[in-house]
Amino acid sequence: MAYDHSQTDEPPVTDWLHDWDWLDPAWGVDAISIWNSIREQCPVASTERYGRAFLPVTMEAVQAIAQDTEHFSSWRVSVARPDAPPRAAPPITSDPPDHHGHRRLLLPSFNPKAIALMEDDMRKFCRNLISQIGDTDVADAAEQYSQHIPVHGICSMLGVPESDADMFRDWIYRNFQLAPKDLDERMRVIAEMVAYSSAALAERRREPKDDLLTLIAHAEIDGETVSEELQVGYVQLMVLAGIDTTWSAIGSGLWHFAQHPDQRKRLVAVPNGDALWVQAVEEVLRFYAPVTMARQVIGETEISGCPMHAGDQTLVTFPAANHDPAAFDRPEEFDIDRERNRHVAFGLGIHRCLGSNLARLELTVALQEWLRAFPNYDLDPNGETTWANGQVRGPRNIPVVLNR
Ligand code: HEM
Repeated sequence: MAYDHSQTDEPPVTDWLHDWDWLDPAWGVDAISIWNSIREQCPVASTERYGRAFLPVTMEAVQAIAQDTEHFSSWRVSVARPDAPPRAAPPITSDPPDHHGHRRLLLPSFNPKAIALMEDDMRKFCRNLISQIGDTDVADAAEQYSQHIPVHGICSMLGVPESDADMFRDWIYRNFQLAPKDLDERMRVIAEMVAYSSAALAERRREPKDDLLTLIAHAEIDGETVSEELQVGYVQLMVLAGIDTTWSAIGSGLWHFAQHPDQRKRLVAVPNGDALWVQAVEEVLRFYAPVTMARQVIGETEISGCPMHAGDQTLVTFPAANHDPAAFDRPEEFDIDRERNRHVAFGLGIHRCLGSNLARLELTVALQEWLRAFPNYDLDPNGETTWANGQVRGPRNIPVVLNR
């Protein structure tokens, strides 16, 4: 699937400090430099493009927002047109006290034991993708590899057919790249997702199976049945949170290692269980953290000296915090020997990523299998890597030469 990054009619951003826009194509290509340049001038940038909305770039500001559920609500987790109606996708859109029950319901499916059981199948899946590349000299590491892996993971867990993958990726594109600015598109894609999720849940109520969809279809919290609307919200969240997030992280890792043969060589020389792999995966997550969330301001407050008022929106720019020199030693150095790496790619506070075990498994296995199969691969000088901008940032095309 080809992605068009020039969908916005708005003028390109020239002043990131006072007029930022996460759907500007420059964000996709080079967000890290943008955040670093803002940080040199001010901890929190602003814009009026979506109504009043903020962009914090320091660990201190990001932490303060993520940990303060009194002044910041998750009811809106994307900066979008202020008239865009919010939708329920618990637990990510829930505030306390409701949040806890929703999270507790889903948590067991994502615990380390449950996820570890998926490793063998995930490895087999990755090897199969690699064998499907055949014996060509060039490939697209995103289209032929990274984009498929998390779909396999989430489809297996939910119990939905993998043949729906193109439809999921289409929803993701429209949700994250178009919907923040286009109300009609937002309503259309939500309607499609609701129809799909309702039908899938109804099927499981008629015929239960051993999958996450069945658990959701029969969900109860404290003895009370969870409403159909919220059940549909859980399913939508699994699709929106579980696919392009890890797809982006895997793609960023592949893009990075294509350009760093020295690091690649060290990684393929050690066994899969070696600490170097753990460090390398955590460094991919820190350096290329794909997910930026948002909050609605619900009470007068101040973040790093910047006043915020009820009704304003703010990003929770976890990826920018990962590049803050106040929080990391040499943040612009991608260091696979970094032992202390307290990154916030998975967020922090009550909404910390529920899927982090699954994401780490998929990212680790995907990198290990690719690097072992193609230890000499390189970026294709005749191709161009394209990047998704906005809420989930990562490469969508990575043309490579395999140099077998
Ligand atoms: C590298 C991949 C991933 C990254 C970087 C990532 C990042 C994040 C972040 C930053 C949050 C915090 C949201 C907030 O504060 O508003 C989050 C929450 C969440 N993530 Fe992930 N995620 C990834 C993969 C996944 C996967 C594979 C799933 C599986 C479905 C998943 C499910 C969730 C859920 C359900 C929440 C909401 C938790 C809550 O509100 O309590 N994520 N993720």
